Amino acid sequence: MSGDSHPQPPAGTQSHQMWGGRFALGPAEALNALNRSLPVDHRLWPQDVAASKAWVQALARAGVLTPTEEATLQEGLDRVGERLADGAAVGAPDEDIHTLVERLLYEDVGAVAGKLHTGRSRNDQVATDLRLWALDAIDQVDADLAALGATLVSRAKEGVDLLLPGFTHGQRAQPVRWAFVLLAHAWPLVRDRQRLADARRRVAEMPLGSGALAGSGFRVDRVLLKEALGFRAISSNALDATGDRDFVAEILFALTLAGTHLSRLAAELIQYASAEFGFIQLDDAFATGSSLLPQKKNPDVFELARAKSARLLGHLVALLATLKGIPAGYSKDLQEDKVLLFDAFDTLGLVLPAVTGAIATLRPVRERMRDALDPSLRATDLADALVDAGVPFREGHALVGRLVKEAERTGTPLDRVSPATAAAIHPALATALSRLGDWEASVERRATPGGSSRASVDSQLDTLERSFAPLLPQVPR
Ligand code: ARG
Repeated sequence: MSGDSHPQPPAGTQSHQMWGGRFALGPAEALNALNRSLPVDHRLWPQDVAASKAWVQALARAGVLTPTEEATLQEGLDRVGERLADGAAVGAPDEDIHTLVERLLYEDVGAVAGKLHTGRSRNDQVATDLRLWALDAIDQVDADLAALGATLVSRAKEGVDLLLPGFTHGQRAQPVRWAFVLLAHAWPLVRDRQRLADARRRVAEMPLGSGALAGSGFRVDRVLLKEALGFRAISSNALDATGDRDFVAEILFALTLAGTHLSRLAAELIQYASAEFGFIQLDDAFATGSSLLPQKKNPDVFELARAKSARLLGHLVALLATLKGIPAGYSKDLQEDKVLLFDAFDTLGLVLPAVTGAIATLRPVRERMRDALDPSLRATDLADALVDAGVPFREGHALVGRLVKEAERTGTPLDRVSPATAAAIHPALATALSRLGDWEASVERRATPGGSSRASVDSQLDTLERSFAPLLPQVPR
């Protein structure tokens, strides 16, 4: 920036741009506006400073920097970090976070700053920064997913004795426990966290030292760099490493699927919160009103969770479509990865706490759940009882079907059809009807592991409670 009293990059390099040497003029305003990524990537500054500090150390060990130069650059980068923490990136004219950090370093330490980029490219730099950023972001979203899971589990614990219809095809099917329903939405979160943990292993591979595409011209110790930055491994091929965004795609998929799970949970709870179902009531703090209809209490939190998952899916598709067109190595197309990845994490960072709060505070309405248990939901119990009496299931199914038809024709609840009518269809049917038992007995009948019986639900609660328990200190990357 002309008129600035700080030291500036050498002639031929514009103050906020690092590649001006072979150009007569700076870029056109329209290109600059399109090309600049600082408005998006400024948030990589902590990673860019950390990776630069590690790079300085590696250059010094490789004999490229003297100990004095190393110390100057390290201290300078620390001060750059402080300025960035104070908001130095806000309104800065620079092309991206990498050029900004370098310019600030020039301002701080003068010409020696020009040695920082030795043997390094923004191609390996940005891939390194983004991976470092993603590792932290994964840990944060993982904690948010665990918090939602733990909330579902604790609400499920209170819901073991609450019985309601379970649905298939949107139709009442069999009685189940409220706990069982909530846990059906908790298990997908276990898988989401496994997927993220698996992706995380590959995110933790370090590209730094790959140069622009073919490796660094200076013999920096990449293993030392990896240790310094907390990566798990170093990348194996520089051309691959600089152009690889599989890690972004994998994360976006894991986040999209997590979003999809939230969307399904939301879709179900929106229904249950309607007056027609009335199975749950949202807490006032997690419901919204209508500007026109004074009586309304709307489940906006779940509607937004549902819609935001569409946005995540869009980001995943946009990234894959970007990747499929480009050859190995870096192309500027890849700059578009960050806006997608950042927004995906930001979106879930908004959705997860809100959904968690809404679930933590909603009130299940026992009577409405109970009232929805229509006697027709005992049809399977009757067919099963016929099997116990030696009737082949297919035949029993048809016999109970006839009983259902008869009940519907006469407007009688299924469990109240007269013994004579039942016996006329099959003698064992009258016995089955008289021994039907209550709703609890019906739920307990399905006692296979994973079923809705009390023992199965208790064992699920046990497993899930441990799965969502707060994490012990993180394992190294
Ligand atoms: N801002 C760029 C990005 O986000 C950094 C890498 C630029 N590399 C280059 N060769 N122009 O992808």
